[in-house]
Amino acid sequence: MEQNTKTLRHGVNWDKALQLRERERSAFAAARPRSRSLSADAAEHLMFGVPLHWMDDWSTPFTLYVAAAQGASIRDVDGFSYTDFCLGDTGAMFGHAPAPVARAIAAQCQRGFTTMLPSPDAPWVAAELSRRFGMDKWQFALSASDANRFAIRWARAITGRDKILVFNGCYHGTVDDVFVDLEGGRPVQRASLLGQVYPLTEHTRVVEFNDLSALQAALAEGDVACVLAEPAMTNIGMVLPEDGYWPAAEALIREAGALLLIDETHTISSGPGGYARENGMAPDIVVLGKPVAGGMPCAVYGFSADTARRAEHAKREAPAGHSGIGTTLSANMLAMAAMRANLAEVMTDDAYRTMFGLAGQLAAGLRESIARHGLPWCVTQVGARTEFQFCPVPPKNGTEADAILDGELEQIVHLYLLNRGLLITPFHNMMLVCPDTRPADIARFIAVFDALLAELKG
Ligand SMILES: Cc1ncc(COP(=O)(O)O)c(C=O)c1O
Repeated sequence: MEQNTKTLRHGVNWDKALQLRERERSAFAAARPRSRSLSADAAEHLMFGVPLHWMDDWSTPFTLYVAAAQGASIRDVDGFSYTDFCLGDTGAMFGHAPAPVARAIAAQCQRGFTTMLPSPDAPWVAAELSRRFGMDKWQFALSASDANRFAIRWARAITGRDKILVFNGCYHGTVDDVFVDLEGGRPVQRASLLGQVYPLTEHTRVVEFNDLSALQAALAEGDVACVLAEPAMTNIGMVLPEDGYWPAAEALIREAGALLLIDETHTISSGPGGYARENGMAPDIVVLGKPVAGGMPCAVYGFSADTARRAEHAKREAPAGHSGIGTTLSANMLAMAAMRANLAEVMTDDAYRTMFGLAGQLAAGLRESIARHGLPWCVTQVGARTEFQFCPVPPKNGTEADAILDGELEQIVHLYLLNRGLLITPFHNMMLVCPDTRPADIARFIAVFDALLAELKG
């Protein structure tokens, strides 16, 4: 009888979930006086009480303050340790403060930070990136957002076309052009954007991922400069390409004379040369940010030989003056030293082998636990990146993925894990492993997750 009175949400006993939330919030607050006191101090001169307003999006009742982050671990100011499966939302994908990067930064600090001239690391880094990604020529930026912004500018300059095409539900950083969603099949500018005054739908087309006829129709006018895509979507929950999607999509894009701009910032979890290289894709431009310099602000974007030739031609033919591309600290000597050490000694084939093994163990354990508790959830994986989603089969496009997001439930899950020393990304349910994650950490994660599901089933 009692079963019938439960309110179920994504298979979870919702009354139980709300009780759990209150219990976990109290437990967090009671145990962390230092974080509470720093949060109170911060409220005085930091907007929203945090240095970046996103830091207010975590599940905790006040901000968790970090004392140190090393390898797969974070220690907070109240002395609690966490195994970190968030890893700075990919910025620390190969572990926090990897020793080779820390050494390279310390050494470069004796030789200067930034000069607007290159250090000898620049040609080495570019050659190594070419070896990994198969792109011919490289440029640098300070964030993946900037790299995407600049790559779009190059694509427009190269093709002389004004439109870009993105996939519904995508995220490529704070690039205004891409904040166009499909609502009831119609492109609309994202309502949450602050201070955006230009009509973004004028120059941006948006289609669903995995829909070849929509892509073909959106390219038909021959006015699209580039298709900007993650090869597997990761920012609205994960959405994988269906078998055969990319070969067919690439053919359509090429036929329409558009460039394919692949953003590997998150899908670098697939292998040392990213998802595209692993899966035989042939992009015209590749972007990678976040972990490329071990978590130091840096991003890279690479051009195929033909695209680079066209880009150099566009710049030479343009009137003299500012290109609108680049920032003063881009490719600074400190970032280049960090990137060289990271590529040479941290982001290695061996590191990937370890991470794939760990992620496989994690995904299998989560699947078993979900099945044992009979929840209508699934697990999706892109290399070292794993996600559990509140639906029985993985979503196939942004609309489906958006429909199953549940911020309230996510936050309850995240806080429960956090109170037991396990951090996952504050947005949806994504977990990364790094070379320092131990099999015992994975086993613990699965055990805690299993206990949580038992409670949520109530
Ligand atoms: C695929 C992708 N591209 C670009 C970015 C932007 O990175 P950043 O915030 O470091 O500029 C993100 C951030 O999450 C991302 O997921």
